[in-house]
This record gives sequence, C-alpha cells and structure tokens, in this order.
Amino acid sequence: MDLPLHEDLSPGAGALPPRARHAESDAPSLSLNGTWRFRLSPTADPEDGEDDTFARDGYDHTAWDEVTVPGHWVLQGHGAPQYTNTLYPFPVDPPRVPDANPTGDHLRTFDLPAGWPVSGGATLRFDGVESFARVWLNGTELGSFKGSRLAHEFAVGELLRPEGNVLAVRVHQWSSGSYLEDQDQWWLPGIFRDVTLLHRPEDALGDHFVHATYDHRTGAGTLRVDADTPGRVTVAELGIDIATGESVTVPVRPWTAETPRLYDAVLTTPGERVPLRVGFRTVALEDGLIKVNGRPLLFRGVNRHEFHPETGRALDAATMRADILLMKRHNINAVRTSHYPPHPAFLDLCDELGLWVVDECDLETHGFHAFDWRANPVDDDRWTPALLDRAARTVERDKNHASVIMWSLGNECGTGRGLTAMAEWIRARDGSRLIHYEGDRSCADTDVYSRMYADHAEVESIGEREDGGPERRARLPFILCEYAHAMGNGPGGLSEYQRLFETYERLQGGFVWEWIDHGLAHPAHEYAYGGDFGEEVHDGNFVCDGLLLPDRTPSPGLVEYKKVIEPVRVGGDGREGTVRITNLYDFTDLSHLAFTWSYEVDGVSVAEGGLTVPPLGPGERTEVKLPPAPTRGRDAETQWTVRAVLAEDTPWAARGHVVAWAQLPVECGVIQPVPGGTPPVRDGRRITLGPAAFDSRGTLLSFGGLQVRDLRLDVWRAPTDNDNGMPWRPEPSVAARWRAIGLDRVHHRVDAVDLGDDALTVRTRVAPAASDLGLRVTYRWTSNGIKLRLAVSVAPEGDWRAPLPRLGIRFGLPGAAGRVRWFGGGPGEAYPDTRAASMLGLWESDADAMQTPYVRPQENGARPGIRWAEIDGLRVDTDHEPWLTVRRWTTEQLDAAAHRPDLVAGDTVWVNLDSGQHGIGTESCGPGVLPQHQLHARVTDFAYTFSLTGR
Ligand code: GAL
Repeated sequence: MDLPLHEDLSPGAGALPPRARHAESDAPSLSLNGTWRFRLSPTADPEDGEDDTFARDGYDHTAWDEVTVPGHWVLQGHGAPQYTNTLYPFPVDPPRVPDANPTGDHLRTFDLPAGWPVSGGATLRFDGVESFARVWLNGTELGSFKGSRLAHEFAVGELLRPEGNVLAVRVHQWSSGSYLEDQDQWWLPGIFRDVTLLHRPEDALGDHFVHATYDHRTGAGTLRVDADTPGRVTVAELGIDIATGESVTVPVRPWTAETPRLYDAVLTTPGERVPLRVGFRTVALEDGLIKVNGRPLLFRGVNRHEFHPETGRALDAATMRADILLMKRHNINAVRTSHYPPHPAFLDLCDELGLWVVDECDLETHGFHAFDWRANPVDDDRWTPALLDRAARTVERDKNHASVIMWSLGNECGTGRGLTAMAEWIRARDGSRLIHYEGDRSCADTDVYSRMYADHAEVESIGEREDGGPERRARLPFILCEYAHAMGNGPGGLSEYQRLFETYERLQGGFVWEWIDHGLAHPAHEYAYGGDFGEEVHDGNFVCDGLLLPDRTPSPGLVEYKKVIEPVRVGGDGREGTVRITNLYDFTDLSHLAFTWSYEVDGVSVAEGGLTVPPLGPGERTEVKLPPAPTRGRDAETQWTVRAVLAEDTPWAARGHVVAWAQLPVECGVIQPVPGGTPPVRDGRRITLGPAAFDSRGTLLSFGGLQVRDLRLDVWRAPTDNDNGMPWRPEPSVAARWRAIGLDRVHHRVDAVDLGDDALTVRTRVAPAASDLGLRVTYRWTSNGIKLRLAVSVAPEGDWRAPLPRLGIRFGLPGAAGRVRWFGGGPGEAYPDTRAASMLGLWESDADAMQTPYVRPQENGARPGIRWAEIDGLRVDTDHEPWLTVRRWTTEQLDAAAHRPDLVAGDTVWVNLDSGQHGIGTESCGPGVLPQHQLHARVTDFAYTFSLTGR
C-alpha cells in the first residue's frame, strides 16, 4: 500500500541539505511571522478538491480564520492541546496515524520589500513546524518535511514575484514523525517557530564549520573555518585574517561557561558578509572524565523544555533571555535541551552568557516501552534515514556554538541500530564534542555513562566505581542527565546528591528534571494540566514538574537548588570567628566576588562589614578571620552571616547579587521558663485557666480576647506529588499507605480532663476508624496568669509501619487578618530535606504570601526552625524549633483541591505548629525520602508558650 507523504517513513522531500545557522548577514531577509490565514480540518484530506487547491493562485481564502505564526493553533481557539507522558495518544501501528488528524492549512501573502535584489536566489526557512508540513509557493509545491523542532529550508528564488506572493503550508498534527516525537509534554501542532525568507546572493555563504580550539598548556587558540563557498575570516581583535580552510594559532582567552569569552569575527564570501561569534575551547574525554580546556567539569544543570503558559513552545526572545538570566542567577551552569534542539536564539544566548549545553536531537520513542520495545523505530532499518536526517539537522544547525559540548542522540528510545548509526554519523562529522544517550546502559555509542533518577546509594556506588558493568562503561565518567524530579513541592534530597558529586571525581554532576511547569493558562483553572481538555488518555499534572511555576516565578525548589549548588562553599566556626571558604568553580578564581559579613542578634543585623578573601583558584580553600564579635548576646541568639556577592555588574546580574552564603551560629538563645501557678477553675460547662477559656472537654476556646478554634493534634498533610509517588510503580506510595491507615480521617477521643493544682491536663487518644493504631496524646496546659503554656506528649500504640506526614498541633483563628512575623527559618518554604536555603532571621509575611501556588494544590508553605512567631495578636514561643504553616483554608480543603481556584479563603486563619514534618523526597519520579528525613511515630514531647503581642 502506498502511504501518503505524512505517513511514509521518509523525513520529507525537497528541502535543502541542512547547514549551520548564522547570525543575520548583510543579505536582506524578510520575516514571515505574523498573522496568517488559517483553516482547520478534522482529517488529513480537506474535502475541497485536490491537495493543492487551497494553495493555487486565486484561491479565495477570505472566509478563513486567522492565527499568529509562530504559534500553535490549539492555543488559538482551534481544537485543544493534549498531554501524555509516554503514551501515544493514538493507536500504535507505525507508521500509520489516525484518520482523525487535525490539519491546519496556513496561508500568507507577501510582497518583497523595496530594494530586494533582483539577482541571486532566495531560501525559505522554517525553524519549527509540528509535525508534518507540505509547502507551496505561488502554487508550486516546494516539498514536505517532518522533524518538528528542526530547521528546513527550500530554494525559492525562481518562484518569487515582487508582489502578491502566496505561501501555503498544510500542517498535519499526526505523521510518522509523531512516532519519533513521544516526548513527555503537550502535543501542540502548528508553525511554532519563525518563518523567514532569506535572500541568497551569488556566492553567498552556504554551510560553514567553525573549528576553534584552545590549548590550555600554551594558552593558544587555533581557528579554522571551513566553508562551502570559499572566503576570508577576520577577527580584528586578534589580528586574524585568513582564508577559509586555513588555520591560525594565536594567544586567546578561552571560552567556558564561567568565562564566556567570545570574539567577534567576520566571514566574507564574494556574495555575503556574515558576523560570527567565536569561542575557543576544547572538549575532551580524558582520564575517564569530561574535560574542557584541560579541566574536569561539574554540571549544575537543568533540563529545559521550551514552554510558555500562553504560547506553548512558541517562545519569544525575551522569554529565552529570561530563562538564561534566571539560570545564571541561580548558579546553574548547564542545560540539557530536553528533548530537542531549542530555538536557535537560545543557543546564541548560551554562548553569550555562558552555559554548558547538551544539545539533544528531536527523538523519543518512549511509548514502545509498553510493548517491550517491539517495533521500536530506532531498531528498524527502515526508519534509519529519518533518524539520520534528525541527527544531521541537529548537528549541522548548531555545530558552531561554543556552548554546545555534547550531542545527545535523543531521549528514551530503548536501544537499537538506528542509534548506533546516528552516533557513527555524528562522530564522523564532528569529532570535537562528546556523545550522550541515556537509554543504553552498555554505553556502546556514548562517551559518558548517563542515567536518570538513580538513588543516592547507587550514585555513590558508581562514584566508588563499584557498579561493575561493561568494560567500556566502567571507564566512562558519570552524569545524571535527569534527577531530582521537581514536581510540586520539592525536590528533596538535593544536598545529599551534591555531596556525592563533590566527593567522587567520576560523578560529574547532573541536570534537575525540569526547568518549568508546563501549566497552560486556563480561564477556569488558572493553569491547566493533563485531563483539563477532556483528553481520552492523559497523564494529569505530571506535566507540572519544574523549578519554575508556569509564570516563571522561581519555586522554592529553585531557591534550594541555587543554595545547594553554590560555587563557593562557606563554612567555619562562628564561636572561633573563623570562616572557611572553598572555591568550587571549575575555571575561575574568586576575584569577581566580594565577601561581606553581618552579625545578627535574634535575627537582626547589628553590625556589617567586608571580609578580605584571597582570590583563590578553582578547588582552593582558605580560612579567614572574622572581626571580634561586636556584642554579646545576653540571652539572645547570635550568629554571623557571611555572603559572597558579585563585586561588579555582570551581563546576568548586578553587583551585589548573592552567589553564596552561610550562617555561623555563635550563641544559642535562652528561653525564659514560664512559671505555672495559676489553677484551672471549672465554671459550669467552662474551664478557665488564667486568660484562657476551655470547654468542658478541655478544648481551648479563647485566649485573652482571641477566639481559638479546634486546637488539637494534627498528623495529616495534603499529599504532595512526591508523596503520591509514581503511578506506574506496583508498590503503594507513602500517601496511599497514609490513606490506607486513615491518617486523613483520624478521630479524637477525650479520655480524661483533669483539673490539677496548677495545670489542666487533657488525655486523649487519636486514631483512625478500622485500625488498631493510635496515638495517646496528653495536653498539659499551665499559666502564670498572663501567658499560657501547652505541653504535648505523644505516645504511639500499635505497630506503626508508615511514617507520619506531620506531628504537631493545628488551630484556627477566626476573623484573623493573617499577618505573620517570625524568628526562624525563611523567607521561603522548607521541609526537612529542602531546607538548605532557609536562613535564620526575623521575617514578616502574611497568610496569602506564605502559600506556594503549586499548580496542583498540595502541602506547602512550612517555615522551619521557629523560635517565636506572631500571628496577628497571638505570639507563640518555642524551644524545639518547630515548623510553622499558616493558611486560609484547612488541610482537608487543600487536599480536595485539584486546581488553585478550588481553594477559597474562609474567615479563619489555620495555623500548624509541627514538631516534625516528613521529608519530601522525589518519589514522583525517583527515590523517596532518605531515612534521616523520615518522620516516624515515636514517643514525642513538645511545648508552646502563648502570649498576646503588645502585652
Ligand atoms: C524521564 C523523561 C522525561 C520526563 C521525566 C519525568 O523519564 O526523560 O522526559 O518524562 O522522566 O517527568
């Protein structure tokens, strides 16, 4: 059977061979972005005549709709997006796709600008169309192509006319190419990257390959530019003027992600002048390590999908720049372009601002995993030309970027001959970079052993070189191309990974999954995820797993990551007054940083100054002396905060930007004990104890003038995505175990209310229905007549096997405004395994600002290490550094919500003060909570002292 073009296995026909992307030259060009005429058909063959009827001259398209190009029609009111992780959203019968194949006909008419040269040719360039396009210009078919995130060019010179050119593009959502593009993201058809017409003068530049290496022993750079059209290369700053194909060696400053030194060059052919930006650097696999310019790298990376909540994968320049600035400001030094080559402008920015790039080919066949990889295209020779086309289009377009140091064959395709063919082709074409692919544990085709989501213990054994494996693999460096799944609250356990990366030479770091939540702006849900568009199969909110919230607000996970990967480690002993500084950069010394100290008393800075730190080289460490402590604490808690800040403005952050910091405790605070002495008094159905009133069952009703609701033990939290675990795992998640026990529906039984001489003691048992597990909880209330102290003792009964979500008290403050001040960890959210970035200080916020607006509501917003807190008029002092959470809804409401707008503030502010919280982990895709961060039921005592502020 002859298959239609979009279903056959070919990558397309008629396009020019791929070539390197270059900056705008002196040849004119015309952007064809903007408003296009648009018609959507439900199938691949719209019923209005022949295939090309709509593309013919004179066709009347005035009744059509309009869409913006670049863009996805499903985000412009035509059809709907669909989200699946690994599932193909159509029957798997490669290369066939369903009849229901949304097809967007696009039309654009244009005139050539005045002055467009008469001589020479022209090229029409598409930077990205999902997933198959057929193209006509002025009624003549130019060809067709697949490979959604790859560039395709057509020669069109002969066909152009000065006015009234008609460009017609038919785009099918589904094609054989869809089988190669099963990445975990929204399916978003359309012409989603730029369309450009380029004038090609006689003897214009064709393809060109910049070879710019750096010899770290001599400090010399060698430059050679190969070009299809011979010409000359000049680098004025280096006094270079050579012919293409000729090489020259001169002293240069090398390019690294830390020092992104680029030299402006010009490549001139008889027909064209093209500006180049050249970075000299040498990538090598040496001593079993990835080295650049002779030094091993440590990746502090992220996986970046292209995403914008309104425009999907159509990103503007400002968004791309914003991404890189945010990365640089958060100490990130590397990007894996998961899972396709990005918009070319992104790589220009990586060159300019400095990021190591693993450039990944647009290839994933993950859905075949469900059938044990049967019929996997990467292991079927008939597909190999399509795979090689994708490899070539990736490498050829991006080969001149200094930032790109590794080619990645694709993601999650299993194994097969097609991948080997790609690797061989790439090696032959570009031996100057390394090859990455994670899916083949033999590492037969790769230069690095790469894995995703391996747990800490396994990573450690790989670091120790105790993991065995094939001989080739044993000699390779190791990276985690994905780890620390940033879905919802989390990721937990970053510090422990980083310690391993910094300990073992073989471990060269990793790339957090992933950069941004793919929540799509939605009128009712705020941000939509899988299932919100009525998809037949979908993977829910698994698409929201980024370090940025959809609107690019850094999540607490990104703030934590910044701290964990800081390139300068500050430590020391506050009592001794010594600070230890370690330079963890791979290339630079510390001369671009200034160091400051501040001395804080109960969280308030009382003195500040600068610290002189020698410009340590990479890997070096020193100890410097702090000045004498400016004051004594006198029962206050005192500490030094030392910061490393940018000494001057950089292209990515201003002078003063904090790169690294640490706090060095000096003296602990002393908590004044609250004497008891006030006896509880029964008065009818009320009990009073100093300023507090209780009901007859010992429940606190009010304190001073403040109403208090439902103060009692709380063990439940609205499960996080990580608590909910991986749906595909057979073992129940921790949240499933919690629900099975009934921790979301415990009963509180009062066994005794004792009025002693100086204490009200309430004995209770807290337990879920249908279970013999329980917690004996005793509340002991005392007062000195002004303050009120609650001591809670918890003793578990039964065979508790699951950890507890939390352990503490919860109460409501009806009518409270929700203003919060606290001395403790802040300013942002933290949990036991996500608290590296939490600073001890005096903080102020309110119940609204203390929520982290995760796309799917879940436990969030805890502040750790509370010494004291004021919630409106109520002050709480503690000596066990609990966790504070304040919100305008209950945990049960949070648990029931599917989207943010489901959460409606009530008139009560709910406060949790937890003596313990279970950690977060990354079990939504990866290891769970490490043992040291788990919370288990055991005998626990904790106490709070309440007073009224201002009294
Ligand atoms: C990986 C995959 C990513 C993403 C991630 C989970 O297996 O490579 O694309 O799906 O898991 O979010």
